[in-house]
Amino acid sequence: MQCAMLKAALLSAVALFAAAFAHPQQNGDSLTTGLSLLNGQNLVSAQKIFVLGFFSNGNSTYLGVWYNEMQPRTIVWVANRQNPITGGNGSLTLTSSSLELLDRTGNPVWSNAFQTQNSPQAFLLDSGNLIVNDTVSGNLLWQAFDHPSDTLLPGIRIGYDTSTNDNSFVTSWKNGSDPSLGEYSLRLDPKRLPDVLLFHGSVPKYRMGTWNGQGFSGLPALRATNLLAFNMTVDEDSAYYSYTALDTSILWRFVVSPDGLAHRWCSNQSNLWTEYWHLPQDQCDVYVYCGANAACYNGDCKCLSEFTPKSPCDWSQRNFAGGCVRDAVLPCSSGNGFAFLSKVKVPDTLNAIMVHGKGWDDCKNLCLRQCSCSAYTVFQESDCVVWFGDLVDIVQLSEGINDLYTRVSHSNPSHSGRNIAIIVSVSVVVVVLVISALLSFCYRRSQQKHLPLAEEREDESRSKLAKKLDLGAITVATNNFSEQNSIVTAQSRTIYKGTLPSFGDFVVKRLNTEAGLEELQNEVKMLARLDHPNIIRMLGSCMQNNEKVICYEYMPGGSLDAVLFAEDESGIPDWPSRFHIMQGICEGLLYLHEHCRMGPASSTCS
Ligand SMILES: *[C@@H]1O[C@H](CO)[C@@H](O)[C@H](O)[C@H]1NC(C)=O
Ligand SMILES: *[C@@H]1O[C@H](CO)[C@@H](O)[C@H](O)[C@H]1NC(C)=O
Ligand SMILES: *[C@@H]1O[C@H](CO)[C@@H](O)[C@H](O)[C@H]1NC(C)=O
Ligand SMILES: *[C@@H]1O[C@H](CO)[C@@H](O)[C@H](O)[C@H]1NC(C)=O
Repeated sequence: MQCAMLKAALLSAVALFAAAFAHPQQNGDSLTTGLSLLNGQNLVSAQKIFVLGFFSNGNSTYLGVWYNEMQPRTIVWVANRQNPITGGNGSLTLTSSSLELLDRTGNPVWSNAFQTQNSPQAFLLDSGNLIVNDTVSGNLLWQAFDHPSDTLLPGIRIGYDTSTNDNSFVTSWKNGSDPSLGEYSLRLDPKRLPDVLLFHGSVPKYRMGTWNGQGFSGLPALRATNLLAFNMTVDEDSAYYSYTALDTSILWRFVVSPDGLAHRWCSNQSNLWTEYWHLPQDQCDVYVYCGANAACYNGDCKCLSEFTPKSPCDWSQRNFAGGCVRDAVLPCSSGNGFAFLSKVKVPDTLNAIMVHGKGWDDCKNLCLRQCSCSAYTVFQESDCVVWFGDLVDIVQLSEGINDLYTRVSHSNPSHSGRNIAIIVSVSVVVVVLVISALLSFCYRRSQQKHLPLAEEREDESRSKLAKKLDLGAITVATNNFSEQNSIVTAQSRTIYKGTLPSFGDFVVKRLNTEAGLEELQNEVKMLARLDHPNIIRMLGSCMQNNEKVICYEYMPGGSLDAVLFAEDESGIPDWPSRFHIMQGICEGLLYLHEHCRMGPASSTCS
């Protein structure tokens, strides 16, 4: 026992000695004029959180700041990223007018000049900042936080001020061991409304989403945290972003890594880093994944209301980059309506302006007055944003706080982007037809996508009522009508979800017995005549080999009653949304009752 203790004591003495030998001088946390910090010497911040010193990668030596306790060494700042000291024996020297990093021959590889009447002093602070201040006035003469490397520590800001030509951002290392400038950077762009973007070279790769006054429109969850506060300071010519750690016992760093991801790491000072989150995360995060005029939802792209895929063929093969184009040119006089998308990362703002002091109505009117205005939203009730021309990089989020109104041909609030489907059983008693009509609040559907059709026989070719679908394709799409694909089974019918790579998801209703045949045929005849955005669209039917099926479009949001009466009340739509939904249902019902005559004289509805 005693032997073991002695051994341990000896070991730690050896360790101490080794440590002292490796760092022959600990110069406290400051450097005064005329003195140098030599290769092998360190500054340690007052509470021993950060260290300033030299580190090497092969033949190259750099001056950097890292965490004192963390193993392996986590470097947060590098002075001379592009100009390494070669040949060893570098030194950091503070003169009366500059902080200079010299190589062994005394040539500066990196320097910062400042002006002061009194002698300056350099400090390594517990925030990780290296500063130079005036020993008399205390004025800040220079700070490393104005020149971040690849890491945003709490308190470092990135952003721009066009009046001073300042543009401060973080850039990834070249690779895990080479701190020279890599390909990825995180920055604010003066050409856009305040937003943080991840760039690959000069090409945007990811947008956090325009700052809406409280957070980024694409990262609504960030508002919820009580660990961090996010700060965007916006002025006429400038915008700066930073964050603050609210619980100072936790260390935070936000790093752009050489592989092009932005990682937020945290540590309870347990010598271990935990990834808090990283960006981008999924396909919808990829900048302009859906091309122009489309919105991304769950990795899928949908054209905005009154737009269809530019190349339907590419689109059906999930190559969305071509985006969507307007179904019909929108003359200025008729473009007086708006479609509604809720919970979005608003479009990129290269072609947008913000007008302060305008609420929803004023903002709408501002947009209506300009032919080229394509969308609007309002942040914080009075910051109106209007877009002109193509809308890119819209993402529909499952939770979010920003709505978007996109220009359409006529006032019709029901073309809403809510992913909520409503299943209403409407009894149109007069016609003695029972339709299971799904009133939808989905995007205007693309007309170009078709389910595989059955080869038409001569005698059927003139019937334009319902498309005859290929039974084989439907069987494949539903895994041979498998249990897993079934959504609902009721009486004589089962509803399945079908998926075809060329089409996407759709719904299949299959009659299980002979009994409901007439009813089914009536339903096909009836639905074939309906064309209203709020009524579910029949994709076609198939009655062959004793199979009787109808296919409908799929509503990913499920049934409205499930949304309204959900256990978890957080998902229940707010009142304005419910009002929109009610309006939509009424429009659908009005269409069924008023505009849609089912007599033989009229085969379609007006
Ligand atoms: C670095 O400095 C030490 C001490 O002054 C000297 O012995 C050594 O040769 C120098 N190394 C190089 C590579 O100049
Ligand atoms: C310079 O900054 C250090 C670190 O913040 C501070 O301790 C010192 O008081 C400052 N100097 C003066 C003269 O205020
Ligand atoms: C936000 O950042 C600015 C500098 O960009 C700073 O002056 C201000 O104190 C910060 N506010 C908060 C609440 O952190
Ligand atoms: C830090 O540790 C505490 C307790 O040990 C834990 O509750 C907390 O979630 C941790 N915080 C983070 C950010 O890991």
